[in-house]
Amino acid sequence: MLGVDTDEVSFGPSTTQNTYVLAQAFRQWMQPGEAIIVTNQDHEANTGPWRRLAEAGIEIREWRLNPESSSLDPADLDALLDEKVRLVCFPHCSNVVGEVNDVLEITARAHAAGAFACVDGVSYAPHGFENIGKTGADIYLFSAYKTYGPHQGIMVIRRELGMVLPNQAHFFNADCLYKRFTPAGPDHAQVAASAGMADYVDQLAAHHGIEGGAAARCAGVHDLMRAHEGALLQPLLEYLRAKPSVRLLGPDRADRRAPTVALDLGRAAEPVAAALADHGIMAGGGHFYAVRALQAHGIDPKKGVLRLSFTHYTHRDEIDRLMRALDATL
Ligand SMILES: Cc1ncc(COP(=O)(O)O)c(C=O)c1O
Repeated sequence: MLGVDTDEVSFGPSTTQNTYVLAQAFRQWMQPGEAIIVTNQDHEANTGPWRRLAEAGIEIREWRLNPESSSLDPADLDALLDEKVRLVCFPHCSNVVGEVNDVLEITARAHAAGAFACVDGVSYAPHGFENIGKTGADIYLFSAYKTYGPHQGIMVIRRELGMVLPNQAHFFNADCLYKRFTPAGPDHAQVAASAGMADYVDQLAAHHGIEGGAAARCAGVHDLMRAHEGALLQPLLEYLRAKPSVRLLGPDRADRRAPTVALDLGRAAEPVAAALADHGIMAGGGHFYAVRALQAHGIDPKKGVLRLSFTHYTHRDEIDRLMRALDATL
């Protein structure tokens, strides 16, 4: 389904734990003076552990988002890339900006400069599993508890990189790619339960008459989810764009983003989220561990943003209810 070999998929306790282990491997593998590029659009999980490698003499370069558009401009990445860079870390989709970054283009730029690419897919994967083999990502991470599964962090590590990075597990497991970066060992019950995610994709495919091999079924379900979510998201974005009291982060076009919609209210967001609950809407208020991304927009993380998210099982009448609730609350 993911377009990679079975042993290129590792199961760890969470994405945060997985990046932490990977960062230890890079710490051993890299030489002082070599560089890693991180962004300020990411969730802390895919930036903090890498930034800490500065303590080992590794140079950290920050690819900064444009505070007006919220976007990461690939041209800005080019200015940071040179022969010292070993790794580029970036989100497929930021959990507060929502914009879908062009993974293929960014990984191609990283590879052309001789660097590997580590992609945080946690905020994208709930909206459709990507064929990771086709993205060019050397590492792609997502969290199964956000993709209709149990609490696991799933990471794809492509063989070429995984067998080069120092083994982080027991020495006698060094030849086994899917064990090398999961020193905690497998949580068998959770790994078994994760099979339910694949069953779910298969059932959706069967229900909608999508045929073919696993990758084709997965791609078909991905496209259906994106189409349905986009059709519901566009009216919400237009509604929000017409509201002067809120600032929408990220693109106002549904085809360029996920339905993870963060709003700067210019005041504390959490009480507004609480008020929406009275209207039957479950929203969130806070910084969502994307503290650096909020600061890059000039937003006080203590005030945070109001975040409205939905997925493929949401109905149009629920979006209408959300807009009525926002009218009453804002
Ligand atoms: C974009 C993004 N990356 C990483 C994480 C961390 O995932 P985990 O909770 O599995 O550590 C999250 C969690 O919310 C996230 O939204």
